[in-house]
Amino acid sequence: MVTFPTVRPRRLRNNKIIRDLIAQTSINVSQLVLPIFVKENINEPEKIESMPEIFRYPPNDYLTKFVQQAYELGIRSFILFGIPSYKDDFASSAYAKDGIIQKSLGLLRQTFGDKILLIADECTDEYISHGHCGVVINKNGKAIIDNDESLEVHARIALSQAEAGADIIAPSSMMDGVVGAIRKKLDENGYRDISIMSYSVKYASTFYSPFRDAAYSKPAFGDRRGYQMDPRNSFEALKEAELDIEEGADILMVKPAHTYLDVIRIVKDNFPYYPLAAYHVSGEYSMIKAAAINGWIDERTAVLEITTAIKRAGADIIITYFAPKIAEWLKEGV
Ligand code: PBG
Repeated sequence: MVTFPTVRPRRLRNNKIIRDLIAQTSINVSQLVLPIFVKENINEPEKIESMPEIFRYPPNDYLTKFVQQAYELGIRSFILFGIPSYKDDFASSAYAKDGIIQKSLGLLRQTFGDKILLIADECTDEYISHGHCGVVINKNGKAIIDNDESLEVHARIALSQAEAGADIIAPSSMMDGVVGAIRKKLDENGYRDISIMSYSVKYASTFYSPFRDAAYSKPAFGDRRGYQMDPRNSFEALKEAELDIEEGADILMVKPAHTYLDVIRIVKDNFPYYPLAAYHVSGEYSMIKAAAINGWIDERTAVLEITTAIKRAGADIIITYFAPKIAEWLKEGV
């Protein structure tokens, strides 16, 4: 191997222009997705204690203004999470025609037309009495989340989101077969052009806890380890991704992101022809925020470094609560 003094890696680090010239990774605002919480029966945005600077929005001018501001920064893609005014055993507020997601999708579609891309998170947890990602049945005195019983509910929610104006359905339940059930339902109802971005590789992670505060979706009993992936496994991610591809997923996802860079890498390497999203989740957001508020790290450099790392690991699309900030920083010039 040619070595020092012939080779001096520092020559290529001499100044910003040369560093920029050879940089292999960049963040594009067009590939950022901004998550938004929409809530029924409030008139003004509501602070989320465990997620500084993030709010729940009512489906009115506050929501459209918030989206408009993000739009002006260059953000075009949004993923919506609904917080309904009632929950029942069937998650019926998730597929009600006047449900919170349906109302919000309708309002945004009406206001922005095709200028923005609307992604709907498809799950039951925010809408079902017990807070799980599927239907619970009683089996020999034990409550279990019934996979196959849940599929019809998920398909029904997806269809209702498509009818309300979603461009992309994003199933996040980790039920086996959910992508296929949704694809079939959408096709049967003439929604062949609606894409599915599957939360294919979703780990049972403690880093969702601020989200569960935000969306009041903490399970009433047990946890999600019976359906979300075990953090100790990586190759299982390939099985999950492959199943979703077979069932008709258009875009794959790994979630969380920062904690699972190795998984992002192997999914991208094995399925390079599928766009890959990575979700920088609520807990990953709040950890940075907390440290920044305390002055222990610099928010801007920390967020840009971590987001770049997610991109470098192989993600094409990044779902992040920091999207407006990143867009602003990119505009200022990094
Ligand atoms: C389920 C869903 C969750 C998140 C996205 N979709 C919560 C969960 O699985 O408990 C978490 C997102 C985040 O933590 O930012 N509807």
